[in-house]
Amino acid sequence: MAPITLGEEAQRALLQAARAARLNAYAPYSGFPVGAAVLDERGRVHAGCNVENAAYPQGVCAEAAALVAMVLAGGSRAAALLVVGEGPAWVTPCGGCRQKLREFGAPDTPVLVADGQGVQLWFTLEELLPHSFGPEHLKPA
Ligand code: THU
Repeated sequence: MAPITLGEEAQRALLQAARAARLNAYAPYSGFPVGAAVLDERGRVHAGCNVENAAYPQGVCAEAAALVAMVLAGGSRAAALLVVGEGPAWVTPCGGCRQKLREFGAPDTPVLVADGQGVQLWFTLEELLPHSFGPEHLKPA
């Protein structure tokens, strides 16, 4: 786990937004509601929840929804992301969401994992997605 580098106020704001978003999750198939929140480059918080679909693969993760909300609001950088869920194991972002965060984050972007009690785990994006592929790989050499 990475050292904690995000202020307590920002952590609280992310947790509150992600918890509220989780209450609106649409997860009738898995019964596994998830909430997420992203802090953008202007200090704004954008939340998302998972939205499932009868055609199962079309479901959207909470982290992806939060990143979409950030872009919709004009945000362009993810300074931190928090995900909250409850289960037998910590709810860490899936591989696809790690890659989605890679687009807007940086290697040291904090990824906080929370449950009903609060923030439990703390990673950097680099820890969750080492040796990753990103926008700079597509720039001309
Ligand atoms: N899910 C998320 O929204 N985020 C995660 O980090 C893990 C999984 C959702 C996808 C699906 O709707 C449900 O949780 C069960 O996998």
